[in-house]
Amino acid sequence: MTQSSRKPPSVIAIYPGSFDPITNGHLDLIDRGSRMFDRLIVSILRNDSKEPLFDVEERTEMLREVVQVYPNVEVDAFDGLLVDHAAAHSATVLLRGIRAISDYEYELQMALMNRRLRPSIETVFMMAHEMYSFISSRLVKEVFGLGGNISGLVPPSVEVRMHRRMSKSKHKGA
Ligand code: PNS
Repeated sequence: MTQSSRKPPSVIAIYPGSFDPITNGHLDLIDRGSRMFDRLIVSILRNDSKEPLFDVEERTEMLREVVQVYPNVEVDAFDGLLVDHAAAHSATVLLRGIRAISDYEYELQMALMNRRLRPSIETVFMMAHEMYSFISSRLVKEVFGLGGNISGLVPPSVEVRMHRRMSKSKHKGA
């Protein structure tokens, strides 16, 4: 085993995603990740092709509000390759959650591609908590947009922002 392949004295993990918006499923992973790694950096993808509900600045604010209770968790945004972003932070772990078998194929592809790009960075998967395994940002937005109750699916501060966003767009449309 070479010196560089040994466990670093401090393990830094990146938890990447779109977080549009952050759900209680994401928050559960952050909570558990914060207890596994010395530092956990929640990194929002900037150059996403999807039309977001919240821009990156709003998503950063929302995430910072909910992770402020964790002293070893930070939030940032990134462009380009995830593994380059991880290396720039000296992170050796990419943290991802798996909810169901349907997530597996996409996650496997990404993990193997990321390993090919930078073999020194390991993807670590955590199984989503069974209470949250049906939650996705996409479904939260859909249910909310159709007038459904999303309380308990996202942090309360996020729910408030979603209601504010909804009344703003209604106001604009009126
Ligand atoms: O929350 P998401 O949308 O499932 O997160 C996807 C994310 C951000 C992890 C993924 O799209 C990503 O890593 N994008 C960065 C670009 C990249 O590195 N692509 C090649 C690796 S597969």
